[in-house]
Parts: sequence; C-alpha cells; structure tokens
Amino acid sequence: MSKKIIAVTGATGAQGGGLARAILADPNGGFAVRALTRDVNSDKAKALAKLGAEVVAANVDDAASVKKAFAGADAAYCVTFFWDHFSPEQEKAQARNLAMAAKDAGLKHVIWSTFEDTRKWVPLSDNRMPTLQGKYKVPHFDAKAEADVYFTEAGLPVTFLLTSFYWDNFIFFGSGPKKGPDGKLALTFPLGDKKMPSIAAGDIGGCAYGIFKRGSEFIGKTVGVAGEHLTGAQMAAELTKALGQPVSYNAVTPDVYRSFGFPGADDLGNMFQFKADFESMYCGHRPLALSRELNPKLQTLAQWLAVNKDRIPLS
Ligand SMILES: NC(=O)c1ccc[n+]([C@@H]2O[C@H](COP(=O)([O-])OP(=O)(O)OC[C@H]3O[C@@H](n4cnc5c(N)ncnc54)[C@H](OP(=O)(O)O)[C@@H]3O)[C@@H](O)[C@H]2O)c1
Repeated sequence: MSKKIIAVTGATGAQGGGLARAILADPNGGFAVRALTRDVNSDKAKALAKLGAEVVAANVDDAASVKKAFAGADAAYCVTFFWDHFSPEQEKAQARNLAMAAKDAGLKHVIWSTFEDTRKWVPLSDNRMPTLQGKYKVPHFDAKAEADVYFTEAGLPVTFLLTSFYWDNFIFFGSGPKKGPDGKLALTFPLGDKKMPSIAAGDIGGCAYGIFKRGSEFIGKTVGVAGEHLTGAQMAAELTKALGQPVSYNAVTPDVYRSFGFPGADDLGNMFQFKADFESMYCGHRPLALSRELNPKLQTLAQWLAVNKDRIPLS
C-alpha cells in the first residue's frame, strides 16, 4: 500500500521538525513526510532528505508556493511563524494561505497549530492587562485563534492543536535561568504560584503524529497537549537538580515582566498573566493523559533536562 503523504510546514523547526522525525522514525506507520522549507539546500533540509523526507520549497507568505507544495498530499501540519515578524496580520495571512492551499489540494486531514483567543476571557475593556496593537491582548495567541475560521469556513477536515510553552525556550528564547547581581541563578516568570503547561517542543510533533495515526477521530475537534503542568518553583527545582547548582524562582508581577523591554515582552507578559489568571481552564485544555496516549515518548522536564541541560546558556 502506498504511504499517505503528510505535508509538514516548519519541518526544519521545532514543531514541524518533531512531526517529521516522528514519522520518519516509524517506517511501517503508513505515512511519508513532505517537508516544506524556504531553502531546500540548507543543512537542516538536507538532513531531513537524508532521513527519507521529500523536501520541497515553499514560503507560507507565498500562497502559490504552498498550493504547489500541498498538491498531491493527503494531509498537512500547519504552523505559522509569529516570532519571525511579530505581526498578527501577517500571521493571519500565512494561515489563510495554508487553509486555501489545503482546500485546493483536497486534503483529508489538516492539523492547525493554534491557541485560545484570550479576548474571550479578557475582553479588550478589561484593564488587568494592556491592549496591544489596537485590538489584541496576546497578539500571537489571538491572531492564531482568529485564523481558525479560515480552516472551518473552507470546510476542511481540521484538528485544532493547542500547544504549550517549550522547554527549548530555556535554550533559544532567552527564557532560561539567568545570574542575578548576587551571581546566583534565577528563573523569572510572572506566574505567581500557578501551574503552566509546558513541553519539549519536538514532543508536540510526536503528539500531532498520534493524532494523524488515529484517522478521523479528532477531525473537527480541539486537542491540547503538554508534557507537564509545572509551577515556576517546580521548574526551578528541576533545573537545580539537573544543573547541579541552585536555581531560584523569581516570581515577578506581569507589569514588571512587560517592562523588561525586549521585543515581545508585552505580548509575553500578557500571555503569562492569562495562563496564571485562568490556570485551571488553561491546564484543563492541555490534558497530560491524552498527550501521553498520543505520544508515548512524551518527556517530563527532568527527562528533557537530562539530554539538554548543557545547551542552556547560563551567562
Ligand atoms: N516558543 C514557544 O514556547 C512556543 C510554544 C507554542 C507555540 N509556539 C508558536 O510556534 C510558532 C513557530 O513554530 P516553531 O517554534 O516550530 O518554529 P521554528 O522552530 O522557529 O521553526 C520555524 C521553521 O519554519 C520555517 N519558516 C519560517 N518562516 C517561514 C516561511 N515564511 N515560510 C515557510 N517556512 C518558514 C523555517 O524553516 P526554513 O528556514 O527551512 O524555511 C524554520 O525552520 C510560533 O507562531 C509560536 O507562536 C511557540
């Protein structure tokens, strides 16, 4: 029997890369990878080809290129790239291109990597957090949620995937422990004593593979995934064990976090506040048992740290 082709956006990155590797590691699973990249000659693209992926050129900003890349596929994993441009409008345009291409190709299953529309819980009139870019509370969440409609209005067989904070952010996103003026390491989040769903980024792709493998079961449904639900203090305790030196949890207020001034600090400050203020809803949307059922290789933070602790920059 011929394999079902899953077109994977972001295949050289975190989420799509995890999915591509999960499919390629299961040669008898009945699925093949079509990896989308802007540069088929990059080292990451070549590495995927070497593992057995079909690698094709596409840019999600270019509708025609996505249409061409999805043609002849059976399914697609759709993710957009907010932190490359910080623009909700561009993110929505990217999502629209993906949905239109999926429709054009007549795909049988699409997973759209999305988030909650935070304005359902924190309307723009709610001053607990600032309104950003005129009409958003958490732009990189709200834009993805607004884009859900492109997939539903196109009548696509879609699964909405709610993802979680990556532990990889400790390595790549500047969210890891930092030395304070006292020379001691501290992990800074505005989460108070609340739990936040978090995950090894690559494990999101493993969960997505589990969804594809279960056929039509999750079509029309929203599925949330996480590796663990942890407080800042629990994350700091795991980092302390793994790094072999004390890491404290520095629970700042959302206002202080927003004032840090790095690009996106206001968006992320609002995001963490949303997660903390609506802890039980937000964790409830990302059940651990289902995540593990979909991806039996799902890691805990301790397991992820055992492999990745030396990659976390501590200076
Ligand atoms: N950081 C977190 O904790 C977190 C958690 C949950 C969700 N998210 C969301 O995850 C999304 C990003 O996904 P990710 O983390 O998997 O991305 P990523 O690791 O940054 O990788 C993105 C990959 O996509 C490709 N890409 C970038 N722009 C593209 C474009 N215009 N057209 C086609 N391909 C493009 C790049 O590959 P090439 O260079 O090969 O083209 C890159 O390797 C963001 O929207 C973010 O909001 C982040």
